[in-house]
Amino acid sequence: MKILDAEFVKGFIRMANDGWEQGWHERNGGNLSYRIRPEEVESVKENFEPRAWTPIGTTVPALGGEYFLVTGSGKFFRNCIIDPADSMCVIELDKAGENYRIVWGLVNGGRPTSELPSHLMNHEGKFLIDPKYRVIYHAHTTNIIALTFVLPLDDAVFTRELWEMATECPVVFPDGVGVVPWMVPGGRDIAVATSELMKKYDLAVWAHHGMFAAGENFDITFGLMHTAEKSAEILVKVLSMRPDKLQTITVQNFRDLARDFNVTLPEKFLYEK
Ligand code: 13P
Ligand code: ZN
Repeated sequence: MKILDAEFVKGFIRMANDGWEQGWHERNGGNLSYRIRPEEVESVKENFEPRAWTPIGTTVPALGGEYFLVTGSGKFFRNCIIDPADSMCVIELDKAGENYRIVWGLVNGGRPTSELPSHLMNHEGKFLIDPKYRVIYHAHTTNIIALTFVLPLDDAVFTRELWEMATECPVVFPDGVGVVPWMVPGGRDIAVATSELMKKYDLAVWAHHGMFAAGENFDITFGLMHTAEKSAEILVKVLSMRPDKLQTITVQNFRDLARDFNVTLPEKFLYEK
């Protein structure tokens, strides 16, 4: 099968374009990766032409031998839909999970996203907890970024504020949201900090930068990013009108919601204000 005809590639491109249309991917901002299923690898293998092995910059032993579809470093999300072979690539990891090689894509040169260490460490953490996780998504979500200038950089505060802004939020991300303080992007240190949070959460905020989301498929992962960012937008609007809320969703309301929707909300987020 031609690789661009594969459903997982079409789904990846659609998600990249959806993110572009949301305004989360100025220039080359953001990156996306998908852990390809073995049968999907088999179905497109005829397109592969392996290049040189390159160090990942971190080690992900649990992912040795896996293949990923990844956006390219410096590539623009808005171009994924018109020139996917220039904008993204398939990489294969070696058995030790120390090196990768490009086997398809980036036809005009380049390398996978500079955030590859964060993507792969997040994938590894999620894979070890639940192998159903396949998508890691980094976006420069405007309103979440704005909130990192005015809210304490604290998991409990971000989670509770986002939960309060839209009734669906505690149901969509009942485990909450983690917050990484400002760190230099692109390296192993921020990858370690993010992947630690991703053991507990499916969402991690990067202060003054953006957000990471993890999920089982493109719809769930995009929907998670979209829901959190929309909630942040509502909070930005509320704070722009006045500094306090006249009324909100209460702790008792959250408990009632959790009971009826059959979700467990950690007590650490249900503090009295
Ligand atoms: P890349 O172009 O290397 O993917 O970097 C974009 C980005 O958002 C870095 O955090
Ligand atoms: Zn970024």
